[in-house]
Amino acid sequence: MFRRSGSPERDMIWAALLGGLLTLVLLYFSRRRQDNEPPLDKGALPWLGHALEFGRDAAKFLARMKEKHGDVFTVRVAGQYITVLLDANSFDSVLNDTVSLDFVKSKNQLLERIFFLKLPGLQPAAEREWMEQHFHGFRLSNLSGTMKANIESLLLSDVKGGSASGWRQDGLFNFCYSLLFRAGYLTLFDSADNVTAIYKEFRKFDKLLSKLVRGSLKKGETHTVNSSRKRLWELLSADWLSRASGSISWQQSYNRFLEKEGVDMEMQRRASLLQLWTTQCNNGPAAFWLLGFLLTHPEAMEALKSEIRQFNLQDPAVRHQTSGSPDSRRTPVFDSILSETLRLTAAVLISRVVVGDKVLRMASGQQYKLRRGDKVILFPFLSPQMDPEIHLEPQSFKYDRFLNIDMSMKDTFYKNEGRLKYYTMPWGAGRHACVGKEFAVATIKQFVFFILTHFDLETCDPQAKLPPVNPSRYGLGMLQPEGELQVRYRLKRSQPET
Ligand code: HEM
Repeated sequence: MFRRSGSPERDMIWAALLGGLLTLVLLYFSRRRQDNEPPLDKGALPWLGHALEFGRDAAKFLARMKEKHGDVFTVRVAGQYITVLLDANSFDSVLNDTVSLDFVKSKNQLLERIFFLKLPGLQPAAEREWMEQHFHGFRLSNLSGTMKANIESLLLSDVKGGSASGWRQDGLFNFCYSLLFRAGYLTLFDSADNVTAIYKEFRKFDKLLSKLVRGSLKKGETHTVNSSRKRLWELLSADWLSRASGSISWQQSYNRFLEKEGVDMEMQRRASLLQLWTTQCNNGPAAFWLLGFLLTHPEAMEALKSEIRQFNLQDPAVRHQTSGSPDSRRTPVFDSILSETLRLTAAVLISRVVVGDKVLRMASGQQYKLRRGDKVILFPFLSPQMDPEIHLEPQSFKYDRFLNIDMSMKDTFYKNEGRLKYYTMPWGAGRHACVGKEFAVATIKQFVFFILTHFDLETCDPQAKLPPVNPSRYGLGMLQPEGELQVRYRLKRSQPET
């Protein structure tokens, strides 16, 4: 038998007191907008705030918030308050501040979540310097030359033994990603033995990356990611440990640098996967979108082919350049097509943690206070890249958007009559901008140039359109398609030509 602890009236009084106390606690801890802070939008769900909408399609969500609040606002996402700045003219207030805004904290949180990687003793400035040295000057030329040779030999060996007609069929995304990943791996990492297995395992990992970043993996998916990560660590370290002598690869050299910085073997193994991701996850998707736009925009394809025809391809000096043709020549049409492709498909989130008192100074003169512990992000995909006030019909692919009439590069774009410093930002900006930009540009050019001069490439369905973007990839760098564009390709009968 239960003994009642009190009368029903007393229970009700206790319940009311508890309820009141809880409300007071919630009110105390619940955040309100204070003077001079950006508009605050906490979302309807307690703690989660806007997490679900943000994760589903960050571009759509942030566009909705911009419509509602303007160029700067604070949203709650899974307990974290994030101030979003979408005025390209004010980006320097974030990019140039290394005192009140911290890049490393934000990056380290991601490294731990994705790669189980902790590099506490590593000096970010020393790492950056190492990276810059290895992607510039003669080292860059060597890497580009090796990359060119790898692209060509993989492409040629892949088409060997095809059907009698010589045609091969594939999804364009898989074709580009697989080819550039393997060529990139052979250039920067090690032996050829594991390259296909590493590519396959990496794609499994990469497919679940957006869910991993947002912490929304389902049970089975967590298992897939964990075993994929482990398998990749094994595959990558098997290669690097087996090469004790001879010339050392970029990857081995990076590991030596980590060792000197006091990073232990286990973390070096884990860092290999981070470097694989950083160096290989953007080129393939970028080449896919570029070739996809060319195949679905005949006027762009014709303009590019006409530019390529102008090279004297019979000139041995051009044909045998090791640092890669045509990247060392002027290619304004190519450059404009690449910039336009990246404007439409590069979608990085630039993120900083507020670590000190921060006043965000807008180009308009307005100032906003940011709170310590919050994050601040830039999402250049939305603005400047897709901003209709900067780029006419921003959703359309215009191959000559970055070309002046005299065929020089167009770099004058305006908003509110002010000339923009940042009119497209596929490579990020400031001291953490992409360190592999020149290598990436050379690689994409070499690949596309070689395809167009040595292969016939066409869509299987002449009416085919590019597949839509996978919306969960916004914020992770180069976008990926949802679906494929089926293409067929074969070696040209007479070569090289366009
Ligand atoms: C189309 C291809 C590429 C695009 C669009 C791209 C874009 C970017 C962006 C936006 C960042 C800055 C991320 C941030 O602010 O958090 C970045 C960083 C970086 N990228 Fe790239 N990237 C590409 C290809 C490459 C390649 C091929 C390499 C090397 C082989 C590379 C190496 C790096 C490295 C090492 C960093 C880190 C820099 C740092 O933390 O200081 N990238 N990339």
